[in-house]
Amino acid sequence: MRVAGFGMSQYFTELNSVSEGAEGRWQKAQIAERIYWDKAVVGGAEFLQITAEKLRCLELVSRHAPEAIQPDYRRPKQVVEIGIGPLAVGVGNLLEPPDAWRLTAVEPQPRRDCEFPEFIMAGFRILVRRTLSYVHTKGETTGLPSDNFDLALCFNVIDHTPNWRGILVEICRILKPGGYFVLTVDTLCFASYVRWACILRWLKKSDLNVLAHPSRLTAFGLERYLPRLGLQNLFV
Ligand SMILES: C[S@@+](CC[C@H](N)C(=O)[O-])C[C@H]1O[C@@H](n2cnc3c(N)ncnc32)[C@H](O)[C@@H]1O
Repeated sequence: MRVAGFGMSQYFTELNSVSEGAEGRWQKAQIAERIYWDKAVVGGAEFLQITAEKLRCLELVSRHAPEAIQPDYRRPKQVVEIGIGPLAVGVGNLLEPPDAWRLTAVEPQPRRDCEFPEFIMAGFRILVRRTLSYVHTKGETTGLPSDNFDLALCFNVIDHTPNWRGILVEICRILKPGGYFVLTVDTLCFASYVRWACILRWLKKSDLNVLAHPSRLTAFGLERYLPRLGLQNLFV
């Protein structure tokens, strides 16, 4: 069996060569991530689906916290997106109008090309034409200046690393006082969390979906944790 040109035996060899501990667990998740993106960069269906989810995220923000994505026509606003994905098309690329935002994208996977049908490529080209600086590194250690961004975005990322707290701390460091933070992550109910923590992550540890998610979070846990970072006026 092969996954999008990536031999499963090569995949197992790579997984087995990774060390134990949190860093090794993250590297395993990155291998699973690469396999996911091998498939997502061809065909276009996955790209369309995840782009639609990002649009829905912005719709929710505009309904509940419209000031977060309000342009300032006197100067472009600085936006950072952590874990934008190797195609460099995140929620930030969908902000309107394009000229009102300067996007910095942080992503540990190297940037990749894609092969989609022409009607999807046309939209993709428009989205990547934005002014964007791609910082190829981890979200916990961005090296970006403190108090710098008006808006931080982190869409479907923090459960892909064991060090999700490190990413949140770093975002709070680089966000300007009074800046906005839009975070999306799949959360589990308490029963599903216990099932994952006690059974799934041990019994199904070679399953790609389990490998890709070193952490699982509950909305309850996040709601209690975020204010500890100094984040205020949470809308969940
Ligand atoms: C499911 S993908 C989502 C990508 C993108 N946000 C999207 O929705 O299309 C998860 C992303 O998180 C990135 N990621 C994993 N660990 C990370 C870390 N420590 N810092 C920043 N990004 C990370 C992965 O490389 C991957 O691109």
